[in-house]
Amino acid sequence: MSDRYTAMIQNPIAQFLVKNLGLPNPPELERYEGGPLVKGTVLLGGDGLVSADLPNVSKDLGIETTTVRAEGRRYKGLVFDASGLDSAATTVELQKFFTPVLRSLAPCARIVVIGLLPERTETVGARIAQRGLEGFVRSIAKEIGGNGSTANLVYVTPESAGAISSTLGFLLSPKAAFVDGQVVRLGTTSLVEAEQPADPARPLAGKTALVTGAGRGLGAAMARILHRDGATIVGLDVPPLQGDLEALMNELGGSSITCDITAEDAPETIAAGLGDGVDFVVHNAGITRDKRLKNMKSENWEKVVDISVGAPQRITEHLLEHKLVRPGGRIIGISSIAGIAGNNGQTNYGTAKAGVIGFVQALAPQVADVQVTANAIAPGFIETDMVKTMPLGIRTAGRLLSSLSQGGQPVDVAEAVAWLCHPGSQAISGNVVRVCGQGFLGA
Ligand SMILES: NC(=O)c1ccc[n+]([C@@H]2O[C@H](COP(=O)([O-])OP(=O)(O)OC[C@H]3O[C@@H](n4cnc5c(N)ncnc54)[C@H](O)[C@@H]3O)[C@@H](O)[C@H]2O)c1
Repeated sequence: MSDRYTAMIQNPIAQFLVKNLGLPNPPELERYEGGPLVKGTVLLGGDGLVSADLPNVSKDLGIETTTVRAEGRRYKGLVFDASGLDSAATTVELQKFFTPVLRSLAPCARIVVIGLLPERTETVGARIAQRGLEGFVRSIAKEIGGNGSTANLVYVTPESAGAISSTLGFLLSPKAAFVDGQVVRLGTTSLVEAEQPADPARPLAGKTALVTGAGRGLGAAMARILHRDGATIVGLDVPPLQGDLEALMNELGGSSITCDITAEDAPETIAAGLGDGVDFVVHNAGITRDKRLKNMKSENWEKVVDISVGAPQRITEHLLEHKLVRPGGRIIGISSIAGIAGNNGQTNYGTAKAGVIGFVQALAPQVADVQVTANAIAPGFIETDMVKTMPLGIRTAGRLLSSLSQGGQPVDVAEAVAWLCHPGSQAISGNVVRVCGQGFLGA
C-alpha cells in the first residue's frame, strides 16, 4: 500500500506502538502468482446441497481438503455447507464448526459458507437460518480481517448447486484477496449449468473481451488478467489515451478502438471494431466530477451518468440487437460502493453507479434467453489515478476503513471480472459483487 501511514508503521518501534495503541495494522495480502489455487489445506464441514460433492469439486480444482479436524493443524480455508440449516436453533452448527478452528487459520485464509437462496426456502425457520448466514459471514469477516483473511457467502439453489466450482476456486484463492463479506447468488436466472474449460489454466481461450477504458487503471489490469486467462482483448479508450492503449494492446496481442463511448456513433464504431462478435463486454470506462449537489453543474451530472451507464446501455443494446454477443457471453458493468453506500459530493456518481446495478439486474433475465449473463462489480477504494484526486483525509480513511485496513489493487477488480467470465460462472447473473475489502466508503 502506498500511503504514508502504512510506510510509517513498518519499523519495529512503530509496530510496537501500533500493537499497543490498537492502531490499524494492514496485513500484507497474498495475491495469485500462478500455480495451485490454494497453498494449504481446506477443512470442509456442514451438510446440505453441495457437501457430498465438495471433496470431488475441490479435487478437480487441485485443492487439498479434509473433513477431519486435526489438533495443531493450520488451515488455509474453511468451507461450511450451511444450506441444510432450517431453523433459528440449527444456526448453532455454525458456531460448533467455526469456533474450534478459528485459532488455526493460516494468514490470508478463506472462509466460504454455502447457503440455500433464501427466496427458495420452504419454511419460515429455513428462511431465518438461510438469511441469517449473511449476518454471520459479514460479521466473521470483520473478526478475521486482521491477518488478511476473508469470508464470503455463496447461495445456491437445488438446480445451480452443481455450478459452484468456478466460484469456490475463486473465493478460496488469492485471486479474491480483496473480496470480503460478499454474497454471491447462483441460479437466480434460468441459467443454472456451468461449462468446464478444456484447459483450467486458460479458461477463456478462444474468447474475445471488449474492455472500455482499457488505457490505464482498472481497465488495463482487466485486459492483462483476461489475456492471462486466454482471452483475446479489444481495448477501447478516448483519443488522449490512444498511445497508452495501443502500447498495451501490442503487448497483449490485442486490438484497439479509439473512441469516446458517449459519441453518437460509438455503438456502430464499436460493433465495427469487434468484427464477427464478442464474448465479454466489460463496461469499465468511468469518470468522477465531484461536487456537493448545491454546487453541481448539469453538464457534470450528464457526463458522469452518460459515461457510466447511458452509453453502456446504448452500446449493449446495439450489440445484442445485432447478435454480436455470443452465447456463453458476459455483460459486466463496473459500479462502485458509492452507488451502494452513497458518498458526500458524489450525487451524480452515486446515481450513475447505482444505475449500473439497475442496468445489469434488468438485463440479466432478458439475456438469459441468449445464454448471456449480466453482472456488476462494485469496486471499493482501489489504488488508481482516479482516487489520487480525492482529498488526503478521505483517501486515508478509504484505505483504513475496511476489514483489511488497506486499499485494493487494480488486479483485485480484474480477477473478479475474470471469475465472472469463466465458463463455469454461467449460473451467476444479476449479481452485484463488491471488491472492497469490506469497506464502505465511496470512491
Ligand atoms: N479506482 C477506484 O477506487 C474505483 C472505485 C469504484 C469504482 N471505480 C470505477 O472503475 C472504473 C475504472 O476506474 P479507474 O480507477 O481505473 O479510473 P481511471 O480514470 O484510471 O480510468 C478510467 C478509464 O476510462 C476512460 N474513459 C473515461 N471516459 C471515457 C469515455 N467517454 N470513453 C471512453 N473511455 C473513457 C479513461 O480514459 C480511462 O482510461 C470506473 O468506472 C470507475 O468509476 C473505480
